[in-house]
Amino acid sequence: MSNIVLIGFMGVGKTTIGNRLGKLLKMKFVDMDRQIEREQDKKISDIFAQQGEPFFRDLETRMLRSLTASENIILSTGGGIVLRPENRELMKRIGTVVLLEGSVNTVYKRVRLNKNRPILKHKNSKQQIAKLMRERKNFYHLSADLRVSINHKTVMMICEEIVEKIHKGEEDV
Ligand code: S3P
Repeated sequence: MSNIVLIGFMGVGKTTIGNRLGKLLKMKFVDMDRQIEREQDKKISDIFAQQGEPFFRDLETRMLRSLTASENIILSTGGGIVLRPENRELMKRIGTVVLLEGSVNTVYKRVRLNKNRPILKHKNSKQQIAKLMRERKNFYHLSADLRVSINHKTVMMICEEIVEKIHKGEEDV
């Protein structure tokens, strides 16, 4: 199977799903945010606070560039990765881009207590989440090869659906 790139809004479970998929498919799981934190030796919230968002976005793009030659990986990305056209192109080069979609309610329940998400700092209300989701929706759709809804599904159900859809896509070619 070709590489899989997971995209989607904060809190849809990209890391959890990626981790499980990696085990199921015996592929290497790479979590971009965690990798950036390791390389910078700082939490995402501190990178945003000390160096600013554009610096973080550059780190994301640089990491995607470095991953274009990878094989047999499941890549989970940060929620804002779709904002740059260059990132969208790089992700397509890396593999099949899978969009995980969740409702405002599902996302709200998962992110409201988390403090390591600077984009939602002080504005993790349902209204703010809904607004940001609306603003980004088009970019997620532009980036995705296929979409999977996560609402009311277990991790296993979501993984199975992803694998099924990828296989189907490969048959259709
Ligand atoms: C961001 C999402 C975060 C992280 C950073 C910015 C965003 O990743 O990359 O805080 O702009 O949506 P998760 O989607 O894993 O929370």
